[in-house]
Amino acid sequence: MAKWVQAVELDKLEKAYKFVHRRKEIAIFRLDDGVYAIDNSCSHEYSPLSEGIIVGGSDVCCPKHGSRFDIRTGAVKDFPATRPVATFPVKVEEGWVWVKV
Ligand code: FES
Repeated sequence: MAKWVQAVELDKLEKAYKFVHRRKEIAIFRLDDGVYAIDNSCSHEYSPLSEGIIVGGSDVCCPKHGSRFDIRTGAVKDFPATRPVATFPVKVEEGWVWVKV
């Protein structure tokens, strides 16, 4: 059963942050309209999306081969990846980012 887990202080989240919970890596992104969390592992060959470049305001490009994912939905927007990445619910309370994992 998924639980809310305290991940990072909002003030310390600039653009992207790798959060690890029970060996599960989650990429947390701060966009203009809020905070989002997706699987940190690219669905192509598992590179860390938290190290990717944010483009177009809401997409991340994988640092290894350049697949592009929608940070808000996890959808693939460019090859070589063909499968989406998982998304996780996020809330911000009292200056902290929480992720439901
Ligand atoms: S590992 Fe991400 S595009 Fe290949």
